[in-house]
Amino acid sequence: NSCRMCKSADERLESFVASKEFDTAFHRTETQKQKCGFGLQGVCCRLCSNGPCRITPKSPKGICGADADTIVGRNFLRAVASGSACYIHVVENTALNLKHVGETKGIIKSEKALNHLAEKLGIEVDDKYEKCVKVADAVLNDLYKPRFNKMELVEKIGYGPRVEKWKELGIMPGGAKSEVFDGVVKSSTNLNSDPVDMLMSCLSLGISTGLYGLTLTNLINDIMLGDPVIRMAPVGFRVIDEDYINIMITGHQHSTFTSFQEKLKQPEVVELAKSVRAKGFRLVGCTCVGQDLQLRGEHYQEIFAGHAGNNFTSEAVLSTGAIDMIVSEFNCTIPGLEPIADELKVKMICLDDVAKKKNAEYVYLDRNKYDEIDTKLINEALESYKNRRSEVKIDIPKDHGFEQSLTGVSEKNLKEFLGDSWKPLVDLIADGTIKGVAAIVGCSNMTAGGHDINTVELTKELIKRDIIVLSAGCSTGGLENVGLMSPGAEELAGENLKAVCKKLGIPPVLNFGPCLAIGRLEIVATELAAYLGIDLPQLPLVLSAPQWLEEQALADGAFGLALGLPLHLALPPFITGSKLVTEVLTEGLKDITGGHVIVNPDPKSTADQLEEIIIDRRVKLGLKD
Ligand code: SF4
Ligand code: FE2
Repeated sequence: NSCRMCKSADERLESFVASKEFDTAFHRTETQKQKCGFGLQGVCCRLCSNGPCRITPKSPKGICGADADTIVGRNFLRAVASGSACYIHVVENTALNLKHVGETKGIIKSEKALNHLAEKLGIEVDDKYEKCVKVADAVLNDLYKPRFNKMELVEKIGYGPRVEKWKELGIMPGGAKSEVFDGVVKSSTNLNSDPVDMLMSCLSLGISTGLYGLTLTNLINDIMLGDPVIRMAPVGFRVIDEDYINIMITGHQHSTFTSFQEKLKQPEVVELAKSVRAKGFRLVGCTCVGQDLQLRGEHYQEIFAGHAGNNFTSEAVLSTGAIDMIVSEFNCTIPGLEPIADELKVKMICLDDVAKKKNAEYVYLDRNKYDEIDTKLINEALESYKNRRSEVKIDIPKDHGFEQSLTGVSEKNLKEFLGDSWKPLVDLIADGTIKGVAAIVGCSNMTAGGHDINTVELTKELIKRDIIVLSAGCSTGGLENVGLMSPGAEELAGENLKAVCKKLGIPPVLNFGPCLAIGRLEIVATELAAYLGIDLPQLPLVLSAPQWLEEQALADGAFGLALGLPLHLALPPFITGSKLVTEVLTEGLKDITGGHVIVNPDPKSTADQLEEIIIDRRVKLGLKD
């Protein structure tokens, strides 16, 4: 049924989906082709019972008098606030998990990471458990502040020149949860009508989302889950082995199942699997949490099958029939999984009620009952395996993906890899061997040319131009599944970048893992800027979320704009109905934070545009062009 399907950059994935009878996002993209023009432009308002009001040239105002700029501003702020809320939820849980580790003297996987973060936050205590509690409390206290009390850690983890800029602009965020709350208030009916004020709120939300939801989440996770280690790992459907009891994980909160994944390694648990004639238990990575597990895979080799694919690959992963249970703990667990899980008798368990799925069992994650919960999950997986395997046909496209893909890159180990200094990278950029850096981040969507198509094409165009790509998010899942992080990928790069890759034994696209790792890329960028003694907007570095998907991505984008970076999107957010909002985001911001949005659906001309920005910055820095 491939003629009625959306395309993917991953051809083997596409043919596999076409060979199955399941209804997937690939099919629904076709039936949803007709888009609502008002929604697309952000000029449909249904905030009150006088609506929905739709803005047209003949009816330029809603019944209340709101014009397109106000309506678009409200809709956009509401989306950014929701996106921010999602990431703040993640960092809140992550900090609570760390606090629990401290209070119960639980497992600290990396004392190095703990000391590193404590030092960054200016926390000085000797006892490591007390240190965990103090670090967690510092984060939580900030999250819970009222909006007019500024968060204290922004000054400690934000880049100095940026923090000054944010203060000058009056966009230093107050308590992150209150920022979200007031973002919702501002965007309700007949309150705020000033689109510029609302865009400034988006920037504040971007800062709290980025520094807490992204950067701090990673740094806290490193303590509990272990530092990423650079290594080769298999990727794609080939990682699924039907001889194991396979548990697919989806979401963003890796630290919610720290205890569970440790349990799966234990010999007595492996014996349980053997008692039903399986070889053991395996976690199959999917979406961002799979990327995070892959990043730290060095510590979980026995129980981690590998990363299978990104958000819109998940239905196909399930269609193999080899998955026995899904454990989901956050978003990117698409509802389309549910009927496939039902048909293939796959047990679904949710560990966070914000992402309760219709047909799933919700298990409350009581931090004092990890043992009980782990036993429950293990028993459910055993039961599901026993019940379904004789009845369900298994079909794993073992030729999908790659045996070797470079993963595990972090801001810390990349610097170590380069000789404990950014100098080698800066030198390569300074002499023009590497023209600049592009961060390709965010999700995958089905509408920017098809699944991962824009992401993959743009990345290829950039590396061809000797621009090194760092990636984080579901975009990474797409890039690795087409081989851009595997040996041989360097052949697609320009001559200079190719030579660097060959010399260092790295691919031209470096895998930082989940979307949360956009926070790691921010650290790389600020450390490079600090090394050069410049501010972020001067760096020959560009940001692109070509196939951004969710409200969360919009909050990430607001972070990028607050950092003063050029941000490319293949599809615009729903703002084009407002001239003013569009103008501020694509032009006006250049004079405010230094950042701006570039909308371009064509990968080749996007790469030209981004290269031009990089060259312009090189010239201004007096570097060889
Ligand atoms: Fe219409 Fe104004 Fe009500 Fe929105 S708030 S639905 S524009 S009357
Ligand atoms: Fe993500």
